[in-house]
Amino acid sequence: MPPLLSIENLVTSYGGVRAVDDVSLAVDKQARLGIVGESGCGKTTVALSVLRLVSPGRIDSGRILLQDRDLLGLTEREMCAVRGQRISMVFQEPMSSLNPVHTIGAQVTEALTIHKKMSRRAARERAVAMLERVGMPSAGSRFDAWPHQLSGGMRQRVMIAMALICEPEVLLADEPTTALDVTIQAQILELLGGIQEQTGTAIVLITHDLAVLADFAQRVVVMYAGQIVEEAPVGALFASPAHPYARALLDSLPAGPSAAEGGRLPTIPGRVPDLRALPVGCRFQERCSFADETCRTQMPQLESIASDRRVRCFHPLRSAS
Ligand SMILES: Nc1ncnc2c1ncn2[C@@H]1O[C@H](COP(=O)(O)OP(=O)(O)O)[C@@H](O)[C@H]1O
Ligand SMILES: [Mg+2]
Repeated sequence: MPPLLSIENLVTSYGGVRAVDDVSLAVDKQARLGIVGESGCGKTTVALSVLRLVSPGRIDSGRILLQDRDLLGLTEREMCAVRGQRISMVFQEPMSSLNPVHTIGAQVTEALTIHKKMSRRAARERAVAMLERVGMPSAGSRFDAWPHQLSGGMRQRVMIAMALICEPEVLLADEPTTALDVTIQAQILELLGGIQEQTGTAIVLITHDLAVLADFAQRVVVMYAGQIVEEAPVGALFASPAHPYARALLDSLPAGPSAAEGGRLPTIPGRVPDLRALPVGCRFQERCSFADETCRTQMPQLESIASDRRVRCFHPLRSAS
């Protein structure tokens, strides 16, 4: 079966600096795909590119196919019909995405009255049902509440309700739980998982925290400095990461091997290189203990190491099995 959404050789830049550099990935129907990487690796730019909302950046090249249609070839009007209806997005900061001067009901129903030409009354019924579904207690009375009257977790539930109200085929969830405390985080992830199972909406969950993907994703794409460095089924990635960066992300998890040994590595030493001054060769070389002359002179390509795994490394780690 062809993928629902496929991104092919996407290059997106801000002021001529490539934030996403030749990214290709596929989202299958009903999939739960994770995209992980530290801040600044280009994750949000990938998602915004899919919706063609990268301004002030620009998409330089590539294709973004939703089934057979290249979204990059659509008119702005056609693109408006894709956004929210076929592909929708949830952002990290629910407060900045909700409009403070409109009630949550008005915001959740807006897409229905615009895209689906529903009557206010039918839209209200549908919206209340959706708010219930995303776990909003007394959804009927909360319909007329203002964003500032809700907690962060409840606002994020409203954002998810808005994103799902038109039953999109793909939901891009960009750090949807990062601003929330751990308990609420777990509830929102469970909610997203349940929605994926019940509705079949494919979910792309973007996060800097690999731990978030352990129980959620089926496949994981690891990004570093604008490139994909590894892609693997979630179990394989956790059991035996092939790229040293994926390994470092795993080791920095609180329950990772280093924590078990008594050490604590909350972050990976060093930092993501400046995209305006990238080193020649592998972008991870400065933080990698395996880097050698080859890594400092040549760019490793993203290559298949199994039917369902890709890695961009001259010295991939051996499988633990
Ligand atoms: N509006 C913008 N203007 C200029 N540079 C940007 C803009 N948005 C993102 N970038 C740059 O693009 C790169 C990727 O950013 P982003 O896609 O937000 O990464 P991530 O979501 O992984 O943190 C970063 O270097 C960031 O500074
Ligand atoms: Mg981001």
